[in-house]
Amino acid sequence: MGRSRSNIPRYAAAVPHPEPRAVWHPESRHVGRRVLLFSELPSTNDTAASLAADPANAGAVVVADFQTRGRGQYGRVWQSRPGASLLLSALLFPHPAVRRPVVLTAWAAVAVGDAIRALTGVSTRIKWPNDLLVGGKKVCGILIEQGAGTVVGIGLNLNQTAAEFTETGLPDGISLGVIAGKAFDPEDSLRVVLRHLDDEYVRLIDGGPGWLESRWRERFDMLNEPVIAELAGGESIRGRIMEMGFDGIALDGGEIRILTPEAVRQVRKA
Ligand code: BTN
Repeated sequence: MGRSRSNIPRYAAAVPHPEPRAVWHPESRHVGRRVLLFSELPSTNDTAASLAADPANAGAVVVADFQTRGRGQYGRVWQSRPGASLLLSALLFPHPAVRRPVVLTAWAAVAVGDAIRALTGVSTRIKWPNDLLVGGKKVCGILIEQGAGTVVGIGLNLNQTAAEFTETGLPDGISLGVIAGKAFDPEDSLRVVLRHLDDEYVRLIDGGPGWLESRWRERFDMLNEPVIAELAGGESIRGRIMEMGFDGIALDGGEIRILTPEAVRQVRKA
């Protein structure tokens, strides 16, 4: 997978896909105006990308019960048995001011975080760049890829057990089921997630990024703590993040450096 200059990975070329098992037309204003539900796909990101040739597909959401070639950030494999996770990708054609990776990542992380709170009553924290955590464990991952359109892929853990995470070598994973102590219906949960994605997107494009930016900052889990920031160019800096916004991150590592968010690949505890 190549990378665009904006640091968002480019998605692969269009791929053929089977017929969806269902199509929804919710009353969404942007995100999820059409929802295509598939039993199985290689990757929902690939199918959403293949819809980008037609701008009329703006806001389409592709959902799969199972992915045979699901992927995460940095080319990692993303696997989940049917019914265990929500696997979805939204196709967007955002205005240039919104198309920035940091803004889209914040949009998805804040909206899905709100959906998780609506479903479980529990708040999430954001781990740079785009993991959602509960109690320090990962409940959701986001993968944004760019081509003719922008594809925002979301994998939300729903019904895995704690034992299942351990057995599959993911001891730092957690699901809504573990958080709330009950099973979650995938389609009911999907409707809640779609509503929050759509509401937050409308707020972003109508009202600008300020409100989103402040909630993204509040939920970031390492503000003012000792961290190591890994930059896209390979450099690592130790310090504390003193302030952060879409236009810059102030990192105090003896001297204060202002970093553009797109230049920061990873932030981890020092
Ligand atoms: C990560 O945490 O590394 C990002 C994980 C993103 C996984 C989702 S599942 C739906 C969509 N389709 C994919 O192939 N990946 C994303």
